[in-house]
Amino acid sequence: SGLDLVIAGGTVVTAADTYAADIGIRDGRIAQIGHNLSGADRIDATGLLVLPGGIDAHVHLDQPTSDGTTMADDFASGTRSAAAGGNTTVLPFALQIRGQSLRACVEDYHRKAQGNCHTDVSFHLIVSDPTPQVLGQELPALVRDGYTSFKVFMTYDDLVLNDAQILDVFEVARRERALVMVHAEGHDAIRHLTRRLEAEGRTAPYYHGQAHAQIAEREATHRAISHAQLIDVPVVIVHVSGRDPMEQIQWARARGLKVHAETCPQYITLTADDLRGLDMDFDGARYVCSPPPRDADSQAAIWQGLRDGTFDIFSSDHCPFRIDATGKDTPRARSSFKYVPNGIPGVETRLPILFSEGVSKGRISLQRFVALTSTNPARLYGLYPQKGSIAIGADADLTLWDPTLTRQIRQADLNHGCDYTPYEGLQITGWPVRTLLRGQTIAQDGRPCGDPQGAHLARGTSEAFAP
Ligand code: URP
Ligand code: ZN
Ligand code: ZN
Ligand code: ZN
Repeated sequence: SGLDLVIAGGTVVTAADTYAADIGIRDGRIAQIGHNLSGADRIDATGLLVLPGGIDAHVHLDQPTSDGTTMADDFASGTRSAAAGGNTTVLPFALQIRGQSLRACVEDYHRKAQGNCHTDVSFHLIVSDPTPQVLGQELPALVRDGYTSFKVFMTYDDLVLNDAQILDVFEVARRERALVMVHAEGHDAIRHLTRRLEAEGRTAPYYHGQAHAQIAEREATHRAISHAQLIDVPVVIVHVSGRDPMEQIQWARARGLKVHAETCPQYITLTADDLRGLDMDFDGARYVCSPPPRDADSQAAIWQGLRDGTFDIFSSDHCPFRIDATGKDTPRARSSFKYVPNGIPGVETRLPILFSEGVSKGRISLQRFVALTSTNPARLYGLYPQKGSIAIGADADLTLWDPTLTRQIRQADLNHGCDYTPYEGLQITGWPVRTLLRGQTIAQDGRPCGDPQGAHLARGTSEAFAP
């Protein structure tokens, strides 16, 4: 049969089924699915699940920050960490700095990624400066070149767009059939709360959680939905943290609006109390991300949304800063929570957390797990069926998973460039044991291996535009 490799004796899991089969690989693609296959090479997958490789549709790698702090992962360390955590594709952001041409920005990120990626990658664009040139020429040309998604921000001084600008970007997205991701938090509400907290001397990292109130997220979520309805364009509300913004998404869906949604590991495992640190001290900065983790009621709502389809995708929002002077712990950050770099690491722990807390604990099915972490991200971002499926002709991107392996998450075992994990000590049942990208092993037993073989993927139109 001329197969290069057979994954033998495993249990194949897709978003639709679970079944016993061998998988035959030729030239980096799945060539056969059947029984008693043989090839030049063989991997025994007895007792293991065979999943489509994880697709993390929301990661930040090697982004510059305006305050000179450094992100803890570049494309090499970030994609090594991703591979060890069972991922074969990640979607990082190419962030436009105001005044910068979007095309120059994308070329800059290609230079950073080139030759360094252990997984496949494909850039989302971040539009921070929607000039006539960007809206009229650069964005349409970039969408045609396969950058078919872009993110807009409703907060952060350096990135925030006003409503008129958001509507302009939505208009281009509708015309070019690109998918807009929205960071939905209300900037003015956050600034108001921040000023009040600072005036009261409440400057510890804990108060980041109060300044980024869920009400401000709910309001911005509704505003984004409302603008998308006005333009008649699909959107994704990213990193949804709790019950209140979820209700806005459900409100929109009930009216037939094309609103998709993403949530992340921090919103099922952490709460606002984690930001207290040891005793309202700076240790809480380890958990500072936006939107911040909420409470037990919101965690329960998120689980319900993961089950019932309110959420399409589960991404890490990996955005790593070390808990030292290069990252979170600066004199300015000690003076006020508003200067603590926002973001936490998680590309390596996303799949184990959802598997263990979700599948192993009986909260979601295996099919839902695969849909949320691989198949739906591929569909939503124009990579399906080359990615996100186990089918003849698809890339042989596979994760072999031991559903019984039990150990705690430990910083010492992780491969990211960060110096801590917010999930230290979390007990996990179910770990990836081998990751294959186009048939090549890129990680085994929690360690990346081999040279960087990852490619940049041009993407097609999102299935969000399907009738
Ligand atoms: O705190 C976070 N999530 N930082 C990353 C940037 C973003 O908004 O996704
Ligand atoms: Zn965001
Ligand atoms: Zn959807
Ligand atoms: Zn993010």
